[in-house]
Amino acid sequence: MSRWVKMLGLLTILGILLAACGSTAPAAAPAAAPAATAPAMADATAAPAAAGAGGKLEIFSWWTNGGEQEGLNAMFDIYKQKHPGVEIVNATVAGGAGTNAKAVLQTRLVGGQPPDTWQVHAGREALSYVNAGQLEPLTKFFTEQGFDKNMPKFLLDQLKINGEIYTVPVNIHRSNVMWYNIKLFKDNGLEPPKTMDDFFKVAEAFKAKGILPIAVGGSNKFEASHTFESVLLATFGPDDYLKLWDGTTAMWNDPRAAQAITTFGKLLSYSNTDRTAIGWADAMQQVLDGKAAMTIMGDWAHGFALSKGKKVNVDYGWAPSPGTTGSFIWLSDSFGLAKGAPDAEQAKAWLAICGSKEGQDAFNPKKGSSPARTDADLSKYDEYLKAAIKDFGALKLVPSATHGASTTNAYQSPWHNLAEVFSADLDEKALLQGLKDAAPDNLK
Ligand code: GAL
Repeated sequence: MSRWVKMLGLLTILGILLAACGSTAPAAAPAAAPAATAPAMADATAAPAAAGAGGKLEIFSWWTNGGEQEGLNAMFDIYKQKHPGVEIVNATVAGGAGTNAKAVLQTRLVGGQPPDTWQVHAGREALSYVNAGQLEPLTKFFTEQGFDKNMPKFLLDQLKINGEIYTVPVNIHRSNVMWYNIKLFKDNGLEPPKTMDDFFKVAEAFKAKGILPIAVGGSNKFEASHTFESVLLATFGPDDYLKLWDGTTAMWNDPRAAQAITTFGKLLSYSNTDRTAIGWADAMQQVLDGKAAMTIMGDWAHGFALSKGKKVNVDYGWAPSPGTTGSFIWLSDSFGLAKGAPDAEQAKAWLAICGSKEGQDAFNPKKGSSPARTDADLSKYDEYLKAAIKDFGALKLVPSATHGASTTNAYQSPWHNLAEVFSADLDEKALLQGLKDAAPDNLK
């Protein structure tokens, strides 16, 4: 029985649904060498596999939506060009923010069947895998590739765990973005709201005209917490927002926590009632179609819109989420090398592309994210991304909780779940109590 078949059997037993799992066709050119099966993990920092080396490479992510797929494929194309003999196994599990993917990944890691490399958010989320001994240190590799010379100090600091770097970032995403339908605003003589108070005025005006003010998803099980982190930032301001994630209940006892929950509930009252049935991409689609005026989502929604052939500032507009002008909720997608990776050399060749200028300039303009490097070819980035790149360097940076910059995997589960349950029952007391109880999970 192949390793893959065994793994699927294990997943079935555990009743975990692989929402989507596809693999790219084997590379056209025949493998020059037999599949690399040696468990050669002796030196995680050796040079990447030479072009033409055979074998396979399994890359695990949750990138299945418009924009996400195109970005990933752009990097696969580069890999195939450089390493034509390597078969890429594109192991994806659908569900934004990795809410489904991470459950599957966990089963594989615990079962000793790691993919060679997997998507991990830089920051505290990476710490979860490092603490569990599941990632190889990559500091030497990082330096050899010259990545340390071409990434901002801020990001390098976020990547360091006990002095070591474990993952290679491909991008920077912004979480606190409000996407809106330009025509609906124009036709109704309204301006995109800058504050939460403005937001409610605008939402009331749209509602009075029978237009859905804001589309909110929930089927990916992260859309509620995503929207909520913007409301928390608007309520606490950047300095105190930061303190929400320190593993204590202190800030959740602050009256502003209850106030943010009330504001979040009020925002939801201006949204669609079928929140649990639609995903973030559906919500963005409603904005593009003029069925909803606004949605709050990370800039992968921009990548999604691009994949639908839409143009920013023509078909749809953007603004910081209400009340968060001047702050940038950052997150970064990165890839690590599994401890005991079956195809370590091929994986390092992948990581070399992830961190390269060529890889990032192919991936990010499609993904809707900013490059993690400072030497990107700006001519490849559109108006929105040029602004995002500038804002990342100029605004106050605060970490995303929903996307692992400030949260461990242990904390993310209750964080996502509590917000989704609230989106359904609007029980303010239960959400506040749940958040107080869950706060210490962020130190695990
Ligand atoms: C985030 C991830 C993004 C995007 C989004 C929706 O967690 O960092 O790259 O894929 O989920 O799937």
